[in-house]
Amino acid sequence: MAKILVTGGTGHLGHDLVPALTASGHTVRLLAREARLDRAVEWAVEWALGDLATGEGIDDALGGVDTVIHAATLSPIARRGMRPIDFFSSPSDVDVEGTRRLLAASQRANVSHFIFVSIVGLDFSTLPYSRVKLAGEQLVRESPLSWPVIRATPFFYLLAQMLAGLRWLPVWLLPTSPSNPVDTRDVARYLAQAVSDGERGVRPQIGGPEVMPFSTFARQYRDVLGLRRLILPFPVSRKISLALGLVETSERLGERTWKAWLSEQGGCAP
Ligand SMILES: NC(=O)c1ccc[n+]([C@@H]2O[C@H](COP(=O)([O-])OP(=O)(O)OC[C@H]3O[C@@H](n4cnc5c(N)ncnc54)[C@H](OP(=O)(O)O)[C@@H]3O)[C@@H](O)[C@H]2O)c1
Repeated sequence: MAKILVTGGTGHLGHDLVPALTASGHTVRLLAREARLDRAVEWAVEWALGDLATGEGIDDALGGVDTVIHAATLSPIARRGMRPIDFFSSPSDVDVEGTRRLLAASQRANVSHFIFVSIVGLDFSTLPYSRVKLAGEQLVRESPLSWPVIRATPFFYLLAQMLAGLRWLPVWLLPTSPSNPVDTRDVARYLAQAVSDGERGVRPQIGGPEVMPFSTFARQYRDVLGLRRLILPFPVSRKISLALGLVETSERLGERTWKAWLSEQGGCAP
């Protein structure tokens, strides 16, 4: 069993990842800026207070650790929805400088397995957040540590958040780009498997079980939530789709469908 330091354990993926790791019998420590007391008992994990943006607490957090899962990120878009500023800049202090600090500290601590969570299609996206995330991934790939990189398509919660931002419009004009967003539980299961099987390098990418036009995901969202909106699908080139982060992969498929995920939210999807 591994002793794992997880970054990003308090995030969306983290909420599924931590239980998946502890259920597999691993000892888990979370590097977090604040301990989540509501989760402390339920999760039975160690908390190490620290901040990737400043470097505070990282060395101490790595004491006795053999595996790191680096899932922290600072994505303003995921936090508060898309704003015009996101087409011009995105902060790099967590994803680039923070990743560099974590890699250096992991080397000092003789970490044997550094798992990096990344995003499908980063190489083609022109969004500043994607450029920042790609720079972080490159640091991992160039590192002398033993690393697997696991890329996932956008998570369901992010898709729901994006569509929620359109709710005030009576007509939704949406691209038909093929996409397969994924449930964080499927990604968490894959990461837990990666801890145990030890395979290194660039691993198969993971996406959701259904590849559909983006506009069809929107239609299902509208129907499950009982909204009355007109959806007008339109085709865009593959280049534009990728630039916008509308991606697909069939390398590895998750199990949970978008419709099932939406139904589980019980009408409370964002
Ligand atoms: N969202 C997607 O659609 C998607 C798709 C594919 C891959 N990914 C990747 O999957 C991973 C998890 O994404 P997510 O959507 O679950 O992220 P998220 O919900 O936005 O959570 C981000 C996590 O990073 C932590 N964090 C932020 N700044 C930090 C700092 N200065 N020091 C330490 N921790 C910090 C946050 O901690 P606090 O709780 O303190 O804020 C939180 O735990 C990321 O690597 C992301 O790039 C995401």
